[in-house]
Amino acid sequence: MKSKNYRFPPSIVRDVNHKGMEKLWKLMFKLEKDHVPKYHKWMENEELREQTASDRLSLEEEFAMQQTWLLDENKCTFIILDKETMEGTNNELESMIGDANLYLNVSDDDEAAKLTGEIGLMVAEPQFRGRGLGKEIALCLMRYGIESIGILKFQAVISMKNEISIKMFEKLHFVKESASEVFKEVTLTRTVDEDFIRFVRKSTSVYQELSTRPNE
Ligand SMILES: CC(C)(COP(=O)(O)OP(=O)(O)OC[C@H]1O[C@@H](n2cnc3c(N)ncnc32)[C@H](O)[C@@H]1OP(=O)(O)O)[C@@H](O)C(=O)NCCC(=O)NCCS
Repeated sequence: MKSKNYRFPPSIVRDVNHKGMEKLWKLMFKLEKDHVPKYHKWMENEELREQTASDRLSLEEEFAMQQTWLLDENKCTFIILDKETMEGTNNELESMIGDANLYLNVSDDDEAAKLTGEIGLMVAEPQFRGRGLGKEIALCLMRYGIESIGILKFQAVISMKNEISIKMFEKLHFVKESASEVFKEVTLTRTVDEDFIRFVRKSTSVYQELSTRPNE
C-alpha cells in the first residue's frame, strides 16, 4: 500500500490519473476540465440522473463541481475512454463513454471498515452497456483502491429501481447491508478480505497503471 494516512496524497492523485485495460480496449483518465461539457450533456438525460441519483446542474455548476472533486483529497474521479475510438481518432472527448468514481470515507469508530471506498459508476453511452464493461471497470477501480490506497471496505449506494446496477454489484460479491425507504436506495457492501483480494486480482489479470500527466 502506498498510502498510510488514509487519504489521496497529492502525489498519488497526480500519479494515478492514467490507467489502461488491454483486454477490453478501454482507458481511464482523471476527470479534467475539458471533459466537463460532454459530462454535462450526459447529465442532461433525466433517466441517467435518476439512475445515478444526480441533481441537474448548469454547465457553470458542473465546472465548479469538477474543481471541487479535483481538490478534494477524498474523491478520485476517472473518465472512461473507448480505446478503439481513441486509437482511431486520437480524440479524447469523442472517446469518452462514462465515468468511474471512488469516494473515501474515514471512520473513527469502525476499525474493520476504517477506510471505506464508495463506488460510483456510469457507462453513459448506451451502446457500450451490457458488454461487461461496467463490471470490469468496477474491478479495476477496486484493485486500484486496494493496492494504491489501502481501502478496507467498498460500498455502493444504489436506487432501489436500478436492478441492473444492484445485480452487477451482487455479481461482484457485494451483499445488501441496508436500505433507506426515505431515499429509496439500497447500500451494498463488501469487506476487503483475502478471498476478495484474490477474486479482484484474478479478474483483473491485465490491469496496469500507466504513465501520468499533471492535474488541471
Ligand atoms: C449499471 C452499469 C454501470 C452496468 O454496466 P454495464 O457495462 O452495462 O454492465 P455489464 O455488462 O458489466 O454487466 C454487469 C452485470 O449487470 C447485470 N446486467 C447487465 N445488463 C443487464 C440487463 N440488461 N438486464 C439485467 N441484468 C443486467 C448482469 O448481472 C451483469 O453480469 P453478467 O454479465 O455476469 O450476467 C451501466 O448499465 C450504467 O452505467 N447504467 C446507467 C447508469 C447507472 O445506472 N449507474 C449505476 C449507478 S449506481
